[in-house]
Amino acid sequence: MSLKSINPTKTKTWSKLKDHFNDIKDIHIHDHFISESDRSKQFSICLDNFHFDFSKNKITSKTISLFNELLNEIDLKSSIEKYFKGDEINSTEVRPVLHTALRANDDEKLILQGEDIMFQIKNAKEKIQLFSESIISGDHKGFSGKKILDIVNIGIGGSDLGPSMVVESLSHYKTRLNTHFISNVDGDYLNQILDQVNPETTLFIIVSKTFTTIETLTNANTVKDWFLKSACEADISRHFIAVSSNSDKAVDFGISLENIFPMWDWVGGRYSLWSSVGISISLSVGYEKFNELLEGARKMDNHFRNSTYPENIPVIMACLSIWYNNFFEYQTHAIIPYSENLKSFGKYLQQASMESNGKHTDRSGDLIEYQSGEIIWGQTGTNAQHSFFQLFHQGTKIIPSDFIGFCESIMGNKNHHDILMSNFFAQTKALMLGTRGENIDSNHRVFKGNRPTNTILIDKLTPSSLGSLISMYEHKIFTQGVIWNVISFDQFGVELGKKIAKNILKDLEDRDFSDHDSSTKNLLNKYSSTD
Ligand code: F6P
Repeated sequence: MSLKSINPTKTKTWSKLKDHFNDIKDIHIHDHFISESDRSKQFSICLDNFHFDFSKNKITSKTISLFNELLNEIDLKSSIEKYFKGDEINSTEVRPVLHTALRANDDEKLILQGEDIMFQIKNAKEKIQLFSESIISGDHKGFSGKKILDIVNIGIGGSDLGPSMVVESLSHYKTRLNTHFISNVDGDYLNQILDQVNPETTLFIIVSKTFTTIETLTNANTVKDWFLKSACEADISRHFIAVSSNSDKAVDFGISLENIFPMWDWVGGRYSLWSSVGISISLSVGYEKFNELLEGARKMDNHFRNSTYPENIPVIMACLSIWYNNFFEYQTHAIIPYSENLKSFGKYLQQASMESNGKHTDRSGDLIEYQSGEIIWGQTGTNAQHSFFQLFHQGTKIIPSDFIGFCESIMGNKNHHDILMSNFFAQTKALMLGTRGENIDSNHRVFKGNRPTNTILIDKLTPSSLGSLISMYEHKIFTQGVIWNVISFDQFGVELGKKIAKNILKDLEDRDFSDHDSSTKNLLNKYSSTD
């Protein structure tokens, strides 16, 4: 069953939220702290090694209780159950959305069209484990008898962003293998990677759910040609594997059936790092750590599925985002992790969030007349402080943001970590308080404060805590989509550009630009005149 279609702005609670918004919109966050001594306790949620403090927001306890009422009115609970149980909630593509099953307990059962998918998942995990172990141990040899030293993952979008972000974030658990990612069809970059590796000791993973993505197939073909300059066709099976739900196309490319790792229709590309798409993760940090990542995600899944709304971290994050997007009309949301290991986390979340909720059509197929899909961006702290934080503090735009920090550093360098984290705590305080109470004689030096932030303080960056962190955002995105009444799991918005690019490629071959508008025509003429 698909999700119910309810226009949130037509609910009873939405008008109550509007009245409430008018009542509290001008109250400075710091004034809430003055009037509520236990505000931090009231607006914090702890989950094992996670501490989520949302007290520095433009909210009161009434805001939370009204959102609770809204979620009851739109029946979020039944949507969550449909999501976890495998109902066809991706209704435009008539598919369930089951990335949560990929990290469920192995002994659970989940029957989809008469088949227990947990059994298929278990088999795939065993295959990932066996394969990763044979590569890491060196049992699997390249065509000249040498051990594999480098892994090159070729994929784009969800077939790249999730795994590359996790591999980078967990680089402190690195195995002896060096992992590279080629996503863009930029041939210059591809050549730079090929210059660093040796065909005798490199494993290529072609990751494409559809196995039709032009960037990935172009890169894969170029790499195969490069490989075949040093090896023969029969050697491909030692050096190329694929992750795809389209095994026919992967076989056509030249990958043997036993080297194809499964992907299923019920896993969306941007939610797929938990599946065989994560094989680069398992190779880079070992299967055990990959499994810990899944376990961390499962912890957050259970929290999301079972906690009441006011105690539910992803739900609260989603409500806050609706509060700022649809009531305060702030359009963007920044992600500021205080760890260089998480430098690609924002980039990963951009796809997860914006490809999911950047939609203008509701679940009944009607165009929506309210805002959906927040714009996600960000950068690591403290680097961000020395770049765009000027606008954060004194700009005319308000940017709600998530600050993600860790109690312990990875390598235990306390001196650096204390400096890093002092900045982490200072920034959210400065954004909230500003220079209130100080005697400042120039507007140039005034900080108004009243800038909302969430603080996510985690014990340490481990596979488990990273798994929980990613899962937390996945469920935030799900909840936002339910409230905005959009279908978060299709991505028709990427198709038009692909179609036009295909036509332009043909026009470039034919040197015929007559069908284009004058701007595109002039640009194409300029480009083709350099041939
Ligand atoms: O163009 C968008 C998209 O379809 C993403 O949703 C997906 O993650 C990416 O392309 C790659 O797709 P595939 O894994 O099929 O190559």
